[in-house]
Amino acid sequence: MEFPFDINQLFTERVSILDQTLVAGRKSAGRPDLQAHIATVIDELGRASAKAQQLTAPITSASKLQSQRHQLYLLKDGERNGGRGVVVGFLKVGYKKLFLLDRQGVHVEAEPLCVLDFYIAENLQRHGYGLELFDFVLQHKNLEPVLMAYDRPSPKLLSFLAKHYCLTQSVPQVNNFVVFEGFFLNREGSP
Ligand code: ACO
Repeated sequence: MEFPFDINQLFTERVSILDQTLVAGRKSAGRPDLQAHIATVIDELGRASAKAQQLTAPITSASKLQSQRHQLYLLKDGERNGGRGVVVGFLKVGYKKLFLLDRQGVHVEAEPLCVLDFYIAENLQRHGYGLELFDFVLQHKNLEPVLMAYDRPSPKLLSFLAKHYCLTQSVPQVNNFVVFEGFFLNREGSP
């Protein structure tokens, strides 16, 4: 995904972690011009993700990120576009209080880290970027994928989770979240 400004200048790291402040590293702090560019990138990514998932409206935008306690991990490839860099995609996560059903159908209250939105630019999908980004988040959060909940996962995400993390057996829920076998076993405090 290309933009009419220098992506490498805007995002100095290969993976930038954005939150309510819309600041990507020290450089964009106190720089409304750079923060406006960051907002443009997030809005564009959110629209592309919604389109890819055939959603009627984006679930990710700069204004939503500013008002919610979520974290957006943004991956760039600094080598592409003649060295100006391209935005490859993003993964948005956040903690949510959920009422889930365990394997016995018993209600369990949990507040897991949830995968809320995940998108890799169309022309860059199936090149391993999604795995790179997902692994970065797992390391940063020191978490196993089986301990996360997935908000309305698309068929591509389900295929991705099966391929890379062997997550295939989901535990039926009555909401839009998907959790996999092992989610309840490995939780702290669970029997
Ligand atoms: N069809 C089916 N499976 C796919 C596809 C596709 N077009 N693209 C990726 N995958 C899955 C497959 O398991 C694939 O392995 P394979 O090529 O051997 O079949 C694997 O992902 C490839 O892994 P990566 O290259 O690391 O993944 P990628 O960089 O493509 O990122 C992602 C995966 C984010 C799901 C990407 O395909 C994408 O953006 N899809 C469109 C948006 C989307 O569906 N996002 C998930 C929304 S649901 C949510 O966020 C809770």
